[in-house]
Amino acid sequence: MDQDLLYRLSAVTEAAALAGYAWLGRGDKNAADQAAVVAMRDLLNQSPIDGRIVIGEGEIDEAPMLYIGEQLGRGGVAVDIAVDPIEGTRMTAMGQANALVVLAAGARGSFLSAPDMYMEKLVVGQGARGSIDLQRSLADNARAVAQALGKPLSELTVATLAKPRHEAVIAELHRLGARVFAFPDGDVAASVLACLPDTGIDMMYCIGGAPEGVISAAVARSLGGDMQGRLLLRSEAKGASPANDAASEQEARRCREMGVVAGAALTLEEMVRSDDIAFLATGITGGELLEGVRRYDDGRLTTETLVICGQTKAVRRIRAQH
Ligand code: FBP
Repeated sequence: MDQDLLYRLSAVTEAAALAGYAWLGRGDKNAADQAAVVAMRDLLNQSPIDGRIVIGEGEIDEAPMLYIGEQLGRGGVAVDIAVDPIEGTRMTAMGQANALVVLAAGARGSFLSAPDMYMEKLVVGQGARGSIDLQRSLADNARAVAQALGKPLSELTVATLAKPRHEAVIAELHRLGARVFAFPDGDVAASVLACLPDTGIDMMYCIGGAPEGVISAAVARSLGGDMQGRLLLRSEAKGASPANDAASEQEARRCREMGVVAGAALTLEEMVRSDDIAFLATGITGGELLEGVRRYDDGRLTTETLVICGQTKAVRRIRAQH
């Protein structure tokens, strides 16, 4: 991907992080998200791209989100975008660690286009590439990953989200002897940590958002890691209820329209089909992956952005002063 475009995209995630930061700790996750969406849309629309959101925060009738199919840019190179304007809206609203702006961009057709629904995800770094299979049990996967990494299960560290739906999974991993790091929110950061070397995290497993899954898949592919995903209907992810069943019906209809199958295991190559991709993340609040926005007494603001390029495999950190 063109270096000038990468630089421009880093300005997009920086602007969204600064906009989200204005709402840090104010208890209003929707306002934070909205501010990041507006900043992101403005800058993407000023960019010399023929941009298209392929997976994002929802459908056209749920605007003002950056919706699936939205066209962005003032014309130029064709770019597909997978986006989560704030990955960690609750963390931003509550002033907690690890809130990020995340975006993956790629040549047209690079990414799986799917509804904004749930996805079961399993992510590993390069050392365990080829050892995962969502058709098998989590215990089998944990054993295979530990074996690929040449370590006992007692030294395997699995990241997940601390959600009630993962309680059984966490208990099972503990029974196997593995360490579990359960983040309150934010599986993209957890996936990136699983793919980067020397972070102490070997594997990420969770049921979370599909957009976050496709964005994480861009990281896994860029860094030579591995990932499998399975789209899940809301009632499968969160249990049956009249509201969840109604949402599941809509999701199943959208899956049919978009030509994707809920419940089928997707390989990394099915989620990300090209190396001409890039991942960008700017921290809103600091965490394991990135520094957050910092405000200095003289009014200066600084940001840190992680840029991972699929073709060159380069991992860059850009510290900017605004
Ligand atoms: P948002 O801030 O965009 O809501 O995402 C935070 C997050 O934890 C994601 O990382 C994860 O994929 C998703 O929420 C899980 O969804 P839910 O909050 O419904 O459990």
